[in-house]
Amino acid sequence: MASKLPDTTKSLGAGAMDVDDGSGGGGGKKAAGKWPGFVHFFFVLTVVMCALVYAPRFLSPAVSVDFLGLRQPALGRAAEGQGQGVHGGRGNEGDALVLDNQVGSPCASMGGHGICCDRSDYNTDVCFMAGDVRTDAASLSFLLFPPHAPNGTASANATVAEKEEVVRPYTRKWEKGVMANIQEVRLRAARPDEADAHRCDVRHDAPALVMTAGGYTGNLFHAFNDVFLPAWLTVQHLRRRVVLAVLVYNPWWAGTFPELVSGLSRHHVIDLLHDKRTHCFPGAIVGTRFHGILEVDPARTRDNRTLVDFHDFLASVYRDDGASEELVHTTAPAPQQQRRPRLGLYSRKGTRVIENEAAVARLAESVGFDVSILETANGAPLSSEYARVSACDVLVGVHGADLTKLLFLRPGRAALLQVAPLGVPPVARGCYEKATTMMEMQYEQYDTAANESSLVRKYAADDVVLRDPEAAKREGGWDLIARVYLGGQNVSLDLDRFGDTLRRLHSRALRLSATRLDACAHRR
Ligand SMILES: *[C@@H]1O[C@H](CO)[C@@H](O)[C@H](O)[C@H]1NC(C)=O
Ligand SMILES: *[C@@H]1O[C@H](CO)[C@@H](O)[C@H](O)[C@H]1NC(C)=O
Ligand SMILES: *[C@@H]1O[C@H](CO)[C@@H](O)[C@H](O)[C@H]1NC(C)=O
Ligand SMILES: *[C@@H]1O[C@H](CO)[C@@H](O)[C@H](O)[C@H]1NC(C)=O
Ligand SMILES: *[C@@H]1O[C@H](CO)[C@@H](O)[C@H](O)[C@H]1NC(C)=O
Repeated sequence: MASKLPDTTKSLGAGAMDVDDGSGGGGGKKAAGKWPGFVHFFFVLTVVMCALVYAPRFLSPAVSVDFLGLRQPALGRAAEGQGQGVHGGRGNEGDALVLDNQVGSPCASMGGHGICCDRSDYNTDVCFMAGDVRTDAASLSFLLFPPHAPNGTASANATVAEKEEVVRPYTRKWEKGVMANIQEVRLRAARPDEADAHRCDVRHDAPALVMTAGGYTGNLFHAFNDVFLPAWLTVQHLRRRVVLAVLVYNPWWAGTFPELVSGLSRHHVIDLLHDKRTHCFPGAIVGTRFHGILEVDPARTRDNRTLVDFHDFLASVYRDDGASEELVHTTAPAPQQQRRPRLGLYSRKGTRVIENEAAVARLAESVGFDVSILETANGAPLSSEYARVSACDVLVGVHGADLTKLLFLRPGRAALLQVAPLGVPPVARGCYEKATTMMEMQYEQYDTAANESSLVRKYAADDVVLRDPEAAKREGGWDLIARVYLGGQNVSLDLDRFGDTLRRLHSRALRLSATRLDACAHRR
């Protein structure tokens, strides 16, 4: 099925809020025709850039304290009943289902029966429910039925708190606007007399993960940062033995991310808002973990996962035969006929265009790279994008040009070179530097000077917009950033200065390919 990205750019006009990483999907024209209502309802209102979303953090240091603030955790920790939950029919192995994989979580040690919410994170709430879990579609609830006493009578003494827990399963808890569009999912203990009204229509032998296809998922950065990386963090330890129960499930989402969905779960997806049957599970997780912008914190996962593990997950789902990357690793040419390193150059249209892109590509060739021009938002399926990007030793793009695909690059080998137009450097770095280094790759940022910006054609040399972008941003706020620095700026790179950066990355790539076999041996 063709994957199509809803057209988020056009409807916003003036390209002011041009999709940061809007790709993986496709041409706006087709998508708009196919999903007009959907697009308008879920995306147009809400599409922002990584820049927009994190702007407060980078623009005003005062805010960042609060942003990272140590909030008092409001833990909705319910009592943890003991005893083997009725595990969806056949869960009597005795080894309790471990739902929460996070180190130090108040829910990490919950027993076989109970509800536990971890609301201590600034970005996300996540609730866990272990035991006889059944859906109630009418109220979008997950009900926890009491465990059965040894002689078969229901014990009315469930130790689960009476309190109903409510979660919006999305990772931007701090952003009211988008959260208002995420449905509330309820979790509560059921009374034993409710059992008759909630007989299982479908029994699952794996727990549910409740997540959403809504929010900012129409933007590739957000799809990975807000949804899929968090989902992976939350359930990778279950090794696909989890049922995805998805809010706002829709054909666009299913068609754009099929590999990720089946990589996370071996079961069919449940369309949570439309499926009125009673589904029964041995447990449920509502909401996902979040470790930071495109981050995985190994210290917080029980099994020491890293962003490299997430890359490996992507590699496993996007590589058809599992052979191609292996091939690249092992068929090292003799040193004297060394392969030219490959540089992928993302080409943006409309705004933040590299006006001398052809010259930049020739420069990269002359430095010694084989150059691939990569297009953003060209409608190609993510699997083919994976193949193209993972073949690159260096990925180059202006901020907003699909750089989330750095996740597709080869860990430990590749480099990301982000071009930051005037006024954009802090945001650019904030979005991608950490992820790049977490993948043990080289991060380079090329900050354009005033004389490389198209803004010199519009503003006088002594205008604060050119002279002191940080000051201009403080005065002009988000509107100025969106309209001028992001939406109204192209760049024309200084070939001498940019050439220095390229030469540095080229020698690094050569050095690494010379030691490739050693490196490979180490990674095995
Ligand atoms: C077993 O069931 C009987 C009623 O059938 C009840 O009186 C008794 O308390 C139950 N025993 C336990 C251990 O729950
Ligand atoms: C619940 O447990 C308490 C002691 O823990 C006991 O006194 C009480 O009778 C129990 N109630 C029921 C309904 O089983
Ligand atoms: C994770 O890392 C810690 C500390 O480095 C180590 O003690 C532990 O054995 C590791 N666990 C796994 C599963 O690798
Ligand atoms: C652009 O400005 C930088 C200093 O910001 C200067 O070093 C460079 O020579 C200038 N380039 C051109 C083409 O004027
Ligand atoms: C940037 O380049 C694109 C494509 O060449 C052009 O359509 C657009 O008008 C340019 N923007 C500015 C601000 O010069």
